[in-house]
Amino acid sequence: MLENYTLSTEKLNEIRTSVDIVDVISEYLPLTARGQNFFGVCPFHDDHSPSMSVNRDRQIYKCFSCGAGGNVFTFIRDYENITFMQAVQKVAAKTGIFVPISGVNEKTIQKQSKYHEMYEIATKFYINNLYTEEGLEAIAYLDNRKITKEARKEFEIGLSLKNSHLLTGLLEKKGFTEEEMLENGLAISKEGELRDSYFNRIMFPLFDLTGKPVGFSARIYRSNDASKYINTKETNFFKKGELLYHYHKAKNVSRMKDQVILVEGFMDVIRMFTVGIENVVASMGTSVTKEQLLLLKKMGKEIILLFDGDEAGRHAAYKTSSDLMKMGIYPKIVVLEDNLDPDEYILKYGKEKIEYKIAHPINTIDFKLEYLKENKNISSPLDKANYISSVIGELNQITDPILRETTLLKISEETSFDANIIRSQLVDIKDVVKEVKTLPKEKKETLKINRYQEAERRFLFYMLNHEEVIDIYQKKVQFLSTEKYRLLAREINYFYEEHGYIKEADFINVILEDADLLKTFHEITSLDLKDIYTKEEMDEYVDTIYEYKIVKQIDYLKSEQKLAIDQEKKKKLGDEILELKIELQKKELWEEL
Ligand code: UTP
Ligand code: MN
Repeated sequence: MLENYTLSTEKLNEIRTSVDIVDVISEYLPLTARGQNFFGVCPFHDDHSPSMSVNRDRQIYKCFSCGAGGNVFTFIRDYENITFMQAVQKVAAKTGIFVPISGVNEKTIQKQSKYHEMYEIATKFYINNLYTEEGLEAIAYLDNRKITKEARKEFEIGLSLKNSHLLTGLLEKKGFTEEEMLENGLAISKEGELRDSYFNRIMFPLFDLTGKPVGFSARIYRSNDASKYINTKETNFFKKGELLYHYHKAKNVSRMKDQVILVEGFMDVIRMFTVGIENVVASMGTSVTKEQLLLLKKMGKEIILLFDGDEAGRHAAYKTSSDLMKMGIYPKIVVLEDNLDPDEYILKYGKEKIEYKIAHPINTIDFKLEYLKENKNISSPLDKANYISSVIGELNQITDPILRETTLLKISEETSFDANIIRSQLVDIKDVVKEVKTLPKEKKETLKINRYQEAERRFLFYMLNHEEVIDIYQKKVQFLSTEKYRLLAREINYFYEEHGYIKEADFINVILEDADLLKTFHEITSLDLKDIYTKEEMDEYVDTIYEYKIVKQIDYLKSEQKLAIDQEKKKKLGDEILELKIELQKKELWEEL
């Protein structure tokens, strides 16, 4: 094992098998099923078509364009730019497996699973409250707002009661400490007394990216006083700016539609759900963060901003489109009339109207130009100058030369302002493009492979996932003529001897720090072969590998013969060569030489 690993291979393997790589990678990017495999846009190079395949049986991923590949740990490591061990811990945390790495981490994992446990309890508790006597008024409120029973269930809506000691009491009975309740945001201390953080409010659980409840947004429903919503304080496991409301459920639908709709409030998500639109997530107030935009980007190609129709909403849409454009994404925008938010709009105009709006969004540039023109009178010189200078700022953000030019001409016409003057104010597109971070494309190495080596490669491919092929190796093959393949075969044997089984997704863990082996491993696992082999194929590989051994031996003897001065030795070598050639001929492959 590698030095800096304090985890046994068994433990690593246990953690790895506790998750399915398809599910895990799906949390990071949309995957589409095609045949046996899943495909997605590779996050490790500047990819535009889905070059990455994820194989459920083999539990590995592979990019056919840039060559990136590995198991669930290496994916998270490379995607999140963290260490291998941190990636292992992330996976372990998903299933609550205890990872004895160092005191600190061990504690974090324990804390995290306690956190989740407490929020599960709280969520269930609040849901139950809704169906008590005291819940009648809350249900009436929800009914009044046309939040259906299905929606209540889907979003796990609950209620905190008047008595503000109920949840803390329950958690105490279950053995949680005051300190834990305070730290996790479920309780507060008021005048030295422990109290529930929420009471008398409708409870909307907020879920993390995997769908675990990690916080609440609590809405008043009886009175109009104080703040409308109270949210869970930021904790180690709840960071509002890193989540999108409904993400874990919306991601699959979005992936299928290749479209995701961003709204501001979670009530808007709930309303959209009630009319059957499910590829929707909410940023939950304030401005949309970079993390949230990155999540959106992974959900689908078309991003639609469906913000509130008031000035604040339009401003937010303007700001968010600018941020997305910096990431090379041009979202589409739906603008709602009458200052309505999507919830109110749907209640007022109905499902068909919103569906029509979503099907006919405005493109980013048109929206931004409209927004910049708002409250401006283009015929007034001052307004016109203001408008043109803000438009120049916009044009500078556009990296597509054609889009930039067409937009420029449009503005020039609209304002009757000389296009050349506007053009002279623009920065070079190349400078803008430089800012949009792209990874350099890795050069693909072309390997010259003869048919013997091809047999060795294929044999290795099957060795990586089939114990019986390792048995064949030990009994019949024992040696591969190509050095790098031989070294990999040796390592596979070691793994098998030590663990009694083979699985490439686990095997990769032991060769991670050996660059050469890893490279060979990637070469082999990239082969486009079926997961199962036929007996005939296997026999042919074994034969061909054997022939290669003889061919190599003949080559070797020939060079020895050339060097030999002693006639006796020359003849002896010649005899040996002949013998080997006969051996090959027996295999009816004489003509191949
Ligand atoms: P909105 O004020 O638009 O809420 O805030 P809404 O969706 O229309 O809610 P209803 O219809 O009045 O019930 C949008 C988002 O901002 C956050 C919430 O996450 C909300 O979904 N917010 C708003 C708060 O966190 N606190 C507040 O007091 C208000
Ligand atoms: Mn609203």
